[in-house]
Amino acid sequence: MSTSTSPDPSTSAEVAAPYGNGPAAGAGTAFGAPGKPAAKIRTHDLRDAKLRGERFAMLTAYDQYTAEIFDQAGIEVLLVGDSASNNVFGNETSLPVTVEELLPLCRAVARSARRALVVADLPFGSYEVSAQQAVATGVRFLKEGLAHAVKIEGGSFYAGTVQAMVQAGIPVMAHIGFTPQSEHSLGGYRVQGRGEDAQGLIEDAKALAGAGAFCVLMEMVPAEAAAAVDAAVEVPTIGIGAGNATTGQVLVWQDMAGLRGGKMAKFVKQYADLRTTLGDAAKAYAQDVRSGQFPGPEHSF
Ligand code: KIV
Repeated sequence: MSTSTSPDPSTSAEVAAPYGNGPAAGAGTAFGAPGKPAAKIRTHDLRDAKLRGERFAMLTAYDQYTAEIFDQAGIEVLLVGDSASNNVFGNETSLPVTVEELLPLCRAVARSARRALVVADLPFGSYEVSAQQAVATGVRFLKEGLAHAVKIEGGSFYAGTVQAMVQAGIPVMAHIGFTPQSEHSLGGYRVQGRGEDAQGLIEDAKALAGAGAFCVLMEMVPAEAAAAVDAAVEVPTIGIGAGNATTGQVLVWQDMAGLRGGKMAKFVKQYADLRTTLGDAAKAYAQDVRSGQFPGPEHSF
């Protein structure tokens, strides 16, 4: 009968990579090899993942602890999303968040993640005016926010902008399909690329990848359309409400972990119920304070 003890870190390939997605014994992945310390994930690793038929996970993160936790859990890409607007700053939509608000969150995430690729959203209004404006904002996110790459929303219209940013040394993730910053012009939260519109998505993805985007993210598009886009471009794709054929998937972490209340979008799968857990902890704490149970002698000097 074997006894269950912790593996010896000096001999176990499984623990040699300290991070969750370090490959177990056997073949390596695009993101590391057994027995090798976890290396920083680069944009080319995502491309390699697609070439090798592997998938990767992306989550939003907006602060030190979630960045640390998700990084150590093996999440390959952390997105400092403009969804901070409606998940951190209390706005209704992603539109009001500013560069000045997002930069410090990005810095916190980038300082706290050792392995994950950190991608920052360029907020609404910070890149649309011109390619020069996009380059200037992108530089700020890499320089002041310590991001490794940025994401912008929009279709082939932004190919020139992407090209200018890439030429300036800014890796760009393109976000097509439903683009929340255009909520008002798209007429609300609606699936994009249905039926014949799928061809438009393919053209957008091709133009953006052709301009140098290292990845194409698709939000709320039919699974079939997303699969066609993925097949049409060499760069990896990421889906949120885009079916299962993309190279990666992304969710807003408060949705994934059940911190946010209210109705969830169809594409969300909840893996925890943090809202209940935190609420229960707060109630128990308040109860202890009111009854004089906390602090006890063990918490006192
Ligand atoms: O800001 C964000 O969270 C996003 C995801 C929805 C992809 O852009």
